[in-house]
Amino acid sequence: MSWSKKFENLCDWYTHLLKNSPGNTIHIHVLGNTITANPDNVEYMLKTRFENFPKGKPFSLILGDFLGRGIFNVDGDSWRLQKKMASLELGKHSIKSFAFEIINCEIKDRLIPLLSSFAASQKEQHRVLDLQDVFRRFSFDTICRFSFGLDPKCLELSLPMSKFAKAFDLASKLSAERAMTAFPLVWKLKRALNLGSEKQLKKAIKIIHILAKEVIRQRRKMGFLTHNDLLSRFMCTVNDETYLRDVVISFLLAACSGYWQNIQTDWYTHLLKNSPGNTIHIHVLGNTITANPDNVEYMLKTRFENFPKGKPFSLILGDFLGRGIFNVDGDSWRLQKKMASLELGKHSIKSFAFEIINCEIKDRLIPLLSSFAASQKEQHRVLDLQDVFRRFSFDTICRFSFGLDPKCLELSLPMSKFAKAFDLASKLSAERAMTAFPLVWKLKRALNLGSEKQLKKAIKIIHILAKEVIRQRRKMGFLTHNDLLSRFMCTVNDETYLRDVVISFLLAGRDTVASGLTSLFWLLAKHPNVESEIRREADRVLGKNQELTSFGEMKELHYLQAAVYESMRLYPPIQFDSKFCVDDDILPDGSLLRRGTRVTYHPYAMGRIEEIWGPDCLEFKPERWLKDDGDFSPENPFKYPVFQAGFRVCLGKEIALLELKSVALSLLRRFQIQLATRPHPTLRFSPGLTATLSGGLPVLIREREVAPA
Ligand code: HEM
Repeated sequence: MSWSKKFENLCDWYTHLLKNSPGNTIHIHVLGNTITANPDNVEYMLKTRFENFPKGKPFSLILGDFLGRGIFNVDGDSWRLQKKMASLELGKHSIKSFAFEIINCEIKDRLIPLLSSFAASQKEQHRVLDLQDVFRRFSFDTICRFSFGLDPKCLELSLPMSKFAKAFDLASKLSAERAMTAFPLVWKLKRALNLGSEKQLKKAIKIIHILAKEVIRQRRKMGFLTHNDLLSRFMCTVNDETYLRDVVISFLLAACSGYWQNIQTDWYTHLLKNSPGNTIHIHVLGNTITANPDNVEYMLKTRFENFPKGKPFSLILGDFLGRGIFNVDGDSWRLQKKMASLELGKHSIKSFAFEIINCEIKDRLIPLLSSFAASQKEQHRVLDLQDVFRRFSFDTICRFSFGLDPKCLELSLPMSKFAKAFDLASKLSAERAMTAFPLVWKLKRALNLGSEKQLKKAIKIIHILAKEVIRQRRKMGFLTHNDLLSRFMCTVNDETYLRDVVISFLLAGRDTVASGLTSLFWLLAKHPNVESEIRREADRVLGKNQELTSFGEMKELHYLQAAVYESMRLYPPIQFDSKFCVDDDILPDGSLLRRGTRVTYHPYAMGRIEEIWGPDCLEFKPERWLKDDGDFSPENPFKYPVFQAGFRVCLGKEIALLELKSVALSLLRRFQIQLATRPHPTLRFSPGLTATLSGGLPVLIREREVAPA
């Protein structure tokens, strides 16, 4: 379980490292980059020894094609000259008044009318506004008017995207990507050969330059002396057109840039992709991270005994999970694994799971979505599909494990006391893992303070409820029940042990399934062709409007299975997972491990590595899982450790796949599900044990014309 997932973005990640490093300074070896948050160092770099710390050649080379010799991209005399001129101009009262005028004009004439029109239209339609997009348009219009005297009108009521803004966005993005390549030779070669992203970048820059030059020409024609914008002011002292163009583009970039941030998962992916052997060592954390399938096989199978979960993990989750399978190593794990595998391998438990899942879909999920679709006609309700899936998977796993129904997915969307306590306990246990100094939570626990007091309370509620269920089950007779608890009760007597086993199953099977479903539906909304193919296959295999009737029938839906696997390849519910190295060891790629090192394998990064999945690894392509005859073909599990692999492979894999496929099939055949906001290019996650979307998955839902009988 990725209990070490702590940070939403690169800035949080660096902050964490910097906070915990002596002198608040770190060195990222793999990047040859020293990073500091120490004010004395900052003063030394930016003032005392300013001349020794220019932006430097690597930076100006990367942005050179785009920014030319603009202020943003030069050092030395060229920078000094532009700085002097710009300061002079920007210091004037008249330019501040001019900026004030533009900003107010943009707010009054565009921003407010746009928001008013949205507010009015919401009464009839269910439109959701992406405020970030609006603000990007606002700042682009404003800075263009200020710098060039040119109005791209991106914030007009129809929210058009000017050719200039589009080209500018693309050029910023692709230039930023140059900086991400660990091997600059790659983009230089691509540029020399005019290939791929470099070809696109060249085209985007050409558009910007043509437009910028045209503006300069017009300004010259119309007379720049009477204009207030920055370009006109510079034109009074500079004649060189290319130079003028570069100055203005630098100002635009300074005001609009936003591509240098990155979420932590993508950042690790970037480091792993560009490191020899796809393995890195983060010294300050004593953590070796790998995305190399050979290393993964070595850890999870070949030298399994040398890579247990380890004490730090079991200590953090110990209060919550006790001695449950998820939280133990050695003999205790082996015993539970044996018992659980035996039970989960039986046909009868698969049929039982099938029954629960279908019942939850037919009696709760579909009625809930139908009711939303109906009410959307009058009100403008947006449904958070992630929340729905979390409720669905909690109901399902509780019924499966305990035979207890928390009814979280009832029409009124109630939150059971149990679900609430479970949520809180998961969250607070995850937060323990985030503290750089474990002593802090241990002290808080000892003194029963703050979050530790809350955690204790939540765990108490869970334990009381779990014990009550066990008592009831014993009273009613467990021999006639199918749930996992009843099955375990046939061989185990110890109540606390039984409780821990079941809680581990709840944790393992709840958020993981919800996470898998959420990213699947996000991807499907973005790839209507895949969604149509899933429905076509279902019509062909099951018959039009016919429902799934048995567990076995699911096996024939090869394309559906491929889509589910493919979505988790790109968005694994458990993004990375750590073990601890018992004795000194050497990974197959030659990485040396000292005893006690944390070793993390990273399925999220692995899904994005060309050497593993080919040049189209970033694309959502279910076809990559299908053989020529259309049959699903599984991959080497160490290349795809989404369910882990080797000895501790997920025990609920089949049940999880059944849940994902059953929900996808039922919902896609009956409803049209549309994202309520414009999708970001990639998903953004919030910190926690499992990948959870920050902001949820807001969708709009409509019934399809022909619903299944
Ligand atoms: C898409 C859904 C799921 C994914 C991606 C997934 C993934 C994983 C992963 C990566 C592990 C290893 C975690 C670790 O050792 O730190 C694991 C373990 C486990 N999973 Fe799942 N899981 C899913 C659903 C389920 C479900 C529905 C159940 C129960 C019915 C379940 C039961 C378990 C159990 C009991 C373990 C512990 C196995 C052991 O330690 O030997 N999982 N799962």
